[in-house]
Amino acid sequence: MSNPSLLILAGDGIGPEVMTEVRRVIDWYGDKRDLKFDVSEDLVGGAAYDKHGTPLTDETMAKAQAVDAVLLGAVGGPKYDNLDFSVKPERGLLRLRKEMDLFSNLRPAQCFDALADFSSLKRDVVAGLDIVIVRELTSGIYFGEPRGIFKEGNERVGINTQRYTESEIDRVARSAFELARKRGNKVCSMEKANVMESGILWREVVQKVHDEDYPDVELSHMYADAGAMQLCRWPKQFDVIVTDNLFGDLLSDAAAMLTGSLGMLPSASLGAPMANGRPKALYEPVHGSAPDIAGQGKANPIACILSFAMALRYSFDQGDEATRLENAVEKVLADGLRTADLIGEEGVQPVSTREMGDAILAALD
Ligand code: NAI
Ligand code: MG
Repeated sequence: MSNPSLLILAGDGIGPEVMTEVRRVIDWYGDKRDLKFDVSEDLVGGAAYDKHGTPLTDETMAKAQAVDAVLLGAVGGPKYDNLDFSVKPERGLLRLRKEMDLFSNLRPAQCFDALADFSSLKRDVVAGLDIVIVRELTSGIYFGEPRGIFKEGNERVGINTQRYTESEIDRVARSAFELARKRGNKVCSMEKANVMESGILWREVVQKVHDEDYPDVELSHMYADAGAMQLCRWPKQFDVIVTDNLFGDLLSDAAAMLTGSLGMLPSASLGAPMANGRPKALYEPVHGSAPDIAGQGKANPIACILSFAMALRYSFDQGDEATRLENAVEKVLADGLRTADLIGEEGVQPVSTREMGDAILAALD
């Protein structure tokens, strides 16, 4: 059997810096765990624009469709701010998400013990937190028609439409249940079925998918506003939360900040299963290209490294190896290593991107 394939799109700004450390982690798995990947690299975003005049070439798009998983750094930067909308770096990322039809966006909120004091919430509330928000990513109010600003009598009216088909709800629900089976086996679905018809349908379909195909997973339903309160009050009651595009946008950003720095947050975007049974998948840190620190060796590589851990778990069925990598990160943090973004208290000397990478490799050994 051939090795699983990975396409690396490092992108712009700190993207290539953090990805260099991920490459070393990938090589470590090949050497030490005999877990080998066929890795190819290509350009995306501003880097692709500089070379090809487009933020994503058709060839790169075709490669992304063919591999088992794509790993992306970050795109964008001030150098590209004045480009025409059609060739902006972000368009490369949007094209990937759209053409790969990545409808299920996984945003973990995981709190490493060593960073619990970094949270704005009490240590007790967040220490050891490990939840994932599954946000529907390709439909809902950001895409529904009609939309626009229209003239109505003497004034204008702004319109967006929340619209979900049964099949759109069905597929994201399945992805949440599959995920829960690999974790704590618990799903909480959030909508506003009390005031929105799309929420009534959402609740019905999620329940049906559960009853027919995932009766072993514990399912609960919550109104999204109550869910937001519960997330701040006692987030550890959750394992997997599944919700629509709009509520997911808000809830995932709020949940992420329970745990501290942008430099720590990974994400995955999954699509339909391919012929080999693996979902189409793109893994990327939540942060952007951080132009303010790019090229200085200051960037925290952990968000990108944890994105690779998600790839191990969700694309390659290597949950134990993903845990090994997460434990290595945990150990390094417990040992007191901090990149500049993680420095809260005075007197701690920050380590560089490379030193953080070195320490994680040493912890893996
Ligand atoms: P950003 O995430 O790049 O940076 C926000 C702040 O967090 C900055 O102070 C930065 O130094 C810090 N930061 C981010 N990641 C870090 C890391 N790994 N280690 C240490 N510090 C880190 O967001 P910003 O400044 O709004 O956007 C900068 C550029 O990135 C823009 O061109 C934007 O369009 C693009 N962007 C791209 C994204 C992507 O590729 N998915 C997502 C968000 C923004
Ligand atoms: Mg957001």
